[in-house]
Amino acid sequence: MRLKDKVAIVTGGARGIGKAISELFAKEGAAVIIWDLLDVGKETAESIQANGGKATFTKISVTDKEAVEAEAKRIFEEYGRLDILANNAGIVKDRTLLKMSMDEWNAVMNVNLTGVFICTKACVPYMIENKYGRIISAASTSGMRGNYGQTNYSATKAGVIGMAKTWTLELGKYGITANVIAPGYTVTDMTATIPEETAKMFAKQIPVRFLGDPMDIAHGYLYFASPEARYVSGVCLNIDGGAAR
Ligand SMILES: NC(=O)c1ccc[n+]([C@@H]2O[C@H](COP(=O)([O-])OP(=O)(O)OC[C@H]3O[C@@H](n4cnc5c(N)ncnc54)[C@H](O)[C@@H]3O)[C@@H](O)[C@H]2O)c1
Repeated sequence: MRLKDKVAIVTGGARGIGKAISELFAKEGAAVIIWDLLDVGKETAESIQANGGKATFTKISVTDKEAVEAEAKRIFEEYGRLDILANNAGIVKDRTLLKMSMDEWNAVMNVNLTGVFICTKACVPYMIENKYGRIISAASTSGMRGNYGQTNYSATKAGVIGMAKTWTLELGKYGITANVIAPGYTVTDMTATIPEETAKMFAKQIPVRFLGDPMDIAHGYLYFASPEARYVSGVCLNIDGGAAR
């Protein structure tokens, strides 16, 4: 019960890696609030409850500044605390540089970078109030070493690392840490469109020779979210089977 009595928001928690984070945080005693656009978030919350955990779902976009601010306020008023923010929501709109449209660029910027800014800015005042906070944001191996067809995505993923390092400087004095997880290829809906043969080829290029499972990534989030990680801030942890060395 490493997160006993803690209150955690998990953005993009309806499915994939966010679902695994929500399940693990709840198992460790946190009250989890899932923020997602997909209605399936309700089922995710209900299945956590059925397993004895605390979870609720709010349908919301991380890009909707007013709604996010109102939700963060509501949560603080209801629970009296807001300890952990997992900025996990993210999208891809892949295209090579010369073919990438402004719409594709802007859509990915809005969710993966501006969304992280909006959610963090809305939650931090409540963390400051209790002199405790854990901010964990989703980067990617693409942000560390680039990835073919991902100009927009890799820019956002490198960007969240810069934001976390800045928040480390600005917020450390309030007992708030800011860290980043950079997953490698993880089997979720996001990667489901990749043909099986291509996925097998990718697995062969990963030092551990297999693709990640959402729970592999969630355990990294749990470490950064835990009270034991109080002396760790501004760190980007690669969880990628050794892919981005
Ligand atoms: N799967 C991978 O291989 C991989 C690798 C590196 C990084 N990541 C990152 O990990 C995170 C989770 O990825 P995943 O594979 O679980 O993806 P996913 O597509 O399975 O899940 C992402 C979730 O985010 C939600 N979301 C998208 N836009 C949103 C918005 N505007 N507001 C609220 N919720 C929104 C989606 O509805 C979805 O539930 C993402 O940030 C992704 O970039 C994934």
